[in-house]
Amino acid sequence: MDILIKNIKGLVQVRDISPKWVAGKDMAELPILENAFLKIDGEKISDYGLMSDLKDEEAKKVIDATGRFVFPSFVDSHTHLVFAASRESEFVDKIKGVSYEEIARKGGGILNSAKRLQQTSEEELYESALKRAFEIIGFGTGAVEIKSGYGLTVKDEIKMLRVAKRIGENTPLTVKTTFLGAHAIPKEYSNRQQYIDLVMKEMIPQVAEEGLAEYIDAFCETGFFSPDETEMIMEEGKKYGLKPKIHANQLNISGGVQVGVKTKAVSVDHLESMGQEEIDALVGSEVMPTMLPGAAFFLRSNYPPAREMMNAGLPLALATDYNPGSAPCGKMPFILSLACVQMRMTPEEAINAATINSAYAMELQDTQGSITKGKVANVFITSEIPSISYIPYAFGSDVVDQVILNGEVV
Ligand code: NIG
Ligand code: FE
Repeated sequence: MDILIKNIKGLVQVRDISPKWVAGKDMAELPILENAFLKIDGEKISDYGLMSDLKDEEAKKVIDATGRFVFPSFVDSHTHLVFAASRESEFVDKIKGVSYEEIARKGGGILNSAKRLQQTSEEELYESALKRAFEIIGFGTGAVEIKSGYGLTVKDEIKMLRVAKRIGENTPLTVKTTFLGAHAIPKEYSNRQQYIDLVMKEMIPQVAEEGLAEYIDAFCETGFFSPDETEMIMEEGKKYGLKPKIHANQLNISGGVQVGVKTKAVSVDHLESMGQEEIDALVGSEVMPTMLPGAAFFLRSNYPPAREMMNAGLPLALATDYNPGSAPCGKMPFILSLACVQMRMTPEEAINAATINSAYAMELQDTQGSITKGKVANVFITSEIPSISYIPYAFGSDVVDQVILNGEVV
């Protein structure tokens, strides 16, 4: 055996058979094995059980986790981790009362990030993204989805996706990439259809040809892309094997959720603006509703109606949306705090949303998101804490003590 973790106070999210997701009232149940051990062989979880059943203690590395919990690594299924520069001057404008939409209209926001990214070399982008990658590893994240969308030209969108791919190749993170050419219409296009044509006829084919993305996204929102435009772009992407994952219903009831259901998206993300029709549309679909409370916090907007969605039987996922404009924070434990405090999710519900359900939102539910034999050994060990609720409770503390990714201590 390569690694044995013993005397674990609580082994969290143990599932002998991994479900594809947990939904509705099942989200309140988080299986925890107390006084447990975990065995890792190669890159995989090979066994677990109660300490009283531990026979063989021979291992290349033995970790004593007395007083500490072991979790499956967080899966952060929605980020914009590759960007050129922070935007704290817009943050100050927002404090003074300027809205996110107004900033965007004046060429700030996404277009500001695009200008900076276009002026930044691939190497510089890579170096700054690499720092963020190791930052989130330290927060307990093991898998991350990374979007383009700050390039907005063929070459700069490609540049972003190449950087995102390299993060996956050169760090222990599992990375999946999403093409988000339809993030905003650049100022130089007085005719928006011309830019949409560029996305559909040039960007999508090139991204697909180079194998740079698995998913396709659009910012379906008033002032950005309409539901019809979003649908067209998603359908074009699907012809090239890209699967939809959509920015939906962030600032308005935008129709994005319905487009997500119609185009069979893997997930619809944000959901700050939801009505009963949107909830009804999701029921019975295979789309993972994904909430990004870091953005709601930072933009001071409504939070998604998490309880109503769970009461309707839906599964829910949580992700950071790590980006320079609406959520400059990649810390999943803080996202758990926001989910609990602002959306009144229980710690159990929030942890399910940030592990097995967010794994589904990036199609990793068979290999990550739970402690299951044969899954990738992506786990973190907490510091000595009294209970799992302490993690969202102690919202300023660092509780992730040791990280193991792909069976190796990081
Ligand atoms: O998910 N809403 C669209 N895109 C990002 C933010 C983009 C930005 O402000 O840079 C988001 O919130
Ligand atoms: Fe986003």
